[in-house]
Amino acid sequence: MQTNPKIQQQLEKWIEENRGHVILGTTAQYIPELGKADPSKLGICMLDEEGHYYCAGDTDIEFTLQSISKALTFIALSCHYGLDFVLERVDVEPTGEAFNSIIPFEIHRPNKPFNPFINAGAITISALLPGQTSQKKYEYLLHFLEELVGHPLEMNREVYDSEWKASHRNRALAYYLKEAKFLEIEVEEALDIYIRQCSIKVSTKDLALIGLIIAYDGYNPITKVKHFSEEIAQVAKVLMVTCGMYNSSGNFAAHVGIPAKSGVSGGIMAAVPPKLHSQTYEFRAGAGIGVYGPAIDVQGNSAAGTMMLRQISKEWDLSIF
Ligand code: DON
Repeated sequence: MQTNPKIQQQLEKWIEENRGHVILGTTAQYIPELGKADPSKLGICMLDEEGHYYCAGDTDIEFTLQSISKALTFIALSCHYGLDFVLERVDVEPTGEAFNSIIPFEIHRPNKPFNPFINAGAITISALLPGQTSQKKYEYLLHFLEELVGHPLEMNREVYDSEWKASHRNRALAYYLKEAKFLEIEVEEALDIYIRQCSIKVSTKDLALIGLIIAYDGYNPITKVKHFSEEIAQVAKVLMVTCGMYNSSGNFAAHVGIPAKSGVSGGIMAAVPPKLHSQTYEFRAGAGIGVYGPAIDVQGNSAAGTMMLRQISKEWDLSIF
């Protein structure tokens, strides 16, 4: 089947309508290399279950996964050790604090990090990836992701070096985790694997494809390959809804209603499950979405990207709620 020109035109129109919203954010200055991105960029790719890509705006730019990697490490680790193993070591509760906050630990003294999407939970689970060294752990994750996207991936060395030098807070968090006995490997090794996974380069197309696989409960409807179980996909989607957009997750659920994960590079990966009873035709059988818009808001989410998803979800009735 052909791609639908109306969908393509509509996306291009929405990109132009939402470009103005880039002024609501700034590039992530605390990782200097990310701070250099062009804040005026905005792009989106949507992928349907038949393999049609609809891409509009600035989609020829590669960017790093940043926190989007946290959802993928969670899935990869759950595939390897089983969901129970992972959920014994990290909870599925939102914190209501910033993604890199130490406050929830100090106040609540939990017996495990609150969720795998805050930095403390992410560092904890990245350290558990199979392999004796951070290099082996990274290779394991990279291989898992390459299987999902169907082509080789690599790290952005400049972004890695930039974050490594600037990661004082993550280092502090990792020491905290070590002291609380959540971290079985050394602090520097845990930081190394965590920052490596954040520095993996992707495109909006890659994010759309992974989003589609999550929407389809671990199954790729285009290649017909099953990558992970329904139960893993289900918990991943719950986490995306409750914690995926950090302290905007409630608003995002109310106004967009699509399981999604953001990163401070300006990427958003969203998984639109099939909605066969929908009154609208577009993406009724589900979709994956990849967004890039490096001007991020105070919560760390692409400012224009979030506004655009709001419009798309409303017009095409994509909310799961
Ligand atoms: O650890 C950090 O601060 C970054 N590498 C990732 C944070 C992030 O992407 C949060 N997202 N919205």
